[in-house]
Amino acid sequence: MYANAYLENPVLSDASKPLIDASVPVLRQHGLAITQLFYRNMFEERPELTNLFNMGNQANGSQQQSLAAAVFAYAANHRNAEALGPVLERIVHKHVSVGLKPSHYAIVGKHLLGAVKTTLGEAATPELMTAWDEAYWVLAGELIAAEARLYQSTNGGPDHRVPVRVVQRKQQSDDIVSFTLAPVGDGKLVDFAPGQYVSVVVELSPGKFQQRQYSLSDAPNGNTWRISVKVERGDAERPVGTVSNWLHRNADEGTVLMVSQPYGDFAPSIEGDTPVALLSAGVGITPMISALNTLAQRNPNRRVVFAHAARERSQVAHIEDVVAAVAKLPKLSTHYFLESGEPATIAGGKALPGRMAVERVLAEVGTDCDFYLCGPLPFMQVQRAALEGHGVAAHRIHREVFGPDLLDDIL
Ligand SMILES: Cc1cc2nc3c(=O)[nH]c(=O)nc-3n(C[C@H](O)[C@H](O)[C@H](O)COP(=O)(O)OP(=O)(O)OC[C@H]3O[C@@H](n4cnc5c(N)ncnc54)[C@H](O)[C@@H]3O)c2cc1C
Ligand code: HEM
Repeated sequence: MYANAYLENPVLSDASKPLIDASVPVLRQHGLAITQLFYRNMFEERPELTNLFNMGNQANGSQQQSLAAAVFAYAANHRNAEALGPVLERIVHKHVSVGLKPSHYAIVGKHLLGAVKTTLGEAATPELMTAWDEAYWVLAGELIAAEARLYQSTNGGPDHRVPVRVVQRKQQSDDIVSFTLAPVGDGKLVDFAPGQYVSVVVELSPGKFQQRQYSLSDAPNGNTWRISVKVERGDAERPVGTVSNWLHRNADEGTVLMVSQPYGDFAPSIEGDTPVALLSAGVGITPMISALNTLAQRNPNRRVVFAHAARERSQVAHIEDVVAAVAKLPKLSTHYFLESGEPATIAGGKALPGRMAVERVLAEVGTDCDFYLCGPLPFMQVQRAALEGHGVAAHRIHREVFGPDLLDDIL
């Protein structure tokens, strides 16, 4: 959408470019330490920002890794707008969905550059710090401008939230409950592109907020939105998930939730006649169900392969949607893979034992097909490698990550 608008005129000065280039290996080495220190100092000085950030990602380390990755990616690619465009696009959508404001950039800039200086010690010469200050603000300027454009395009703004009422709550599998959301009063819900998500804000205790993204899990219909939330139960090493448990516990029919407008740049193709493969694992099924239901409405003659992997039969969600899609899309084929190996018939077909084998999909549609992946990071890494190994062009493979993206394809 906005990718071509980024960094059309790179404005990093000639004095800064070699310093930025030379600091890439140093940043790679210290990136994680820098971002950890940055977050610690920032939250100490501005504790109210813990309402904005995903503190689950802070606790499990994934956000810290992601910011480090973004800094490396920028340093390594400041001459290469093509590689940076899609990365920035994803960040912009995420930022806008959580309500980022231009004024936040000065706070992050102060603490990020402060942490670079502290971590590098004597190596942080005044020239290097000037170059990084410049680089940070070039990047921040791009993000602020793109975020303003995106807010404008949705008639939103950083403080804009849509009140929605839960009108239906439905158990979709052992762990996944779907919530159908209707506007409160005379409000109207905007349409969205299949693949997009909303940020849901919950007040955990007075004045203490958290927000999480949930992909919309049905076709746009002008009246309601639907999200499907997997409860993160936790285990010996990991605490239970904060917001998913809050929603499963509290969001009964009638509950009013505050959510963002739909955002996100993962957009399975609906129109056209190139075959399309929707490959998911676990709760990664949600954007695929939205795409499948939209294809059934708008382009029922499309050749579609839907493949889904789960640990066991009881964890397979949205079977009713798939059964309905099979009836509407004559050129749809479905494949289910169960790691448990238990015998099961799902949506009219026999589930296969083990992990997803993309060869099954390729045997039907070949490599001249658009592939969409969503699931845990290891699932997507394995499937992407398998697809590329079979000759699928990288530009044909698209993915959604249900957490901060590790940006591994440009690092
Ligand atoms: C674009 C996008 C779309 C998404 N769509 C969906 C969707 O459709 N459905 C869905 O269910 N989810 C979706 N998600 C994921 C969702 O946003 C949440 O991340 C998820 O619900 C978990 O949030 P939580 O608050 O329950 O868990 P959190 O409290 O955020 O915890 C997350 C994980 O970190 C672990 N953790 C927390 N603290 C620690 C610690 N101290 N040490 C070790 N581990 C720790 C937890 O055990 C848990 O496994 C999506 C995410 C994104 C980015
Ligand atoms: C140049 C500056 C910045 C860069 C490079 C950057 C980078 C990123 C990246 C890579 C992500 C993860 C995107 C994904 O989901 O894959 C992210 C998410 C996020 N960023 Fe930024 N960011 C910047 C500035 C800011 C600022 C100024 C704030 C607010 C103070 C902020 C708040 C957030 C929040 C709240 C998220 C959502 C995920 C979470 O909370 O874990 N960011 N950013």
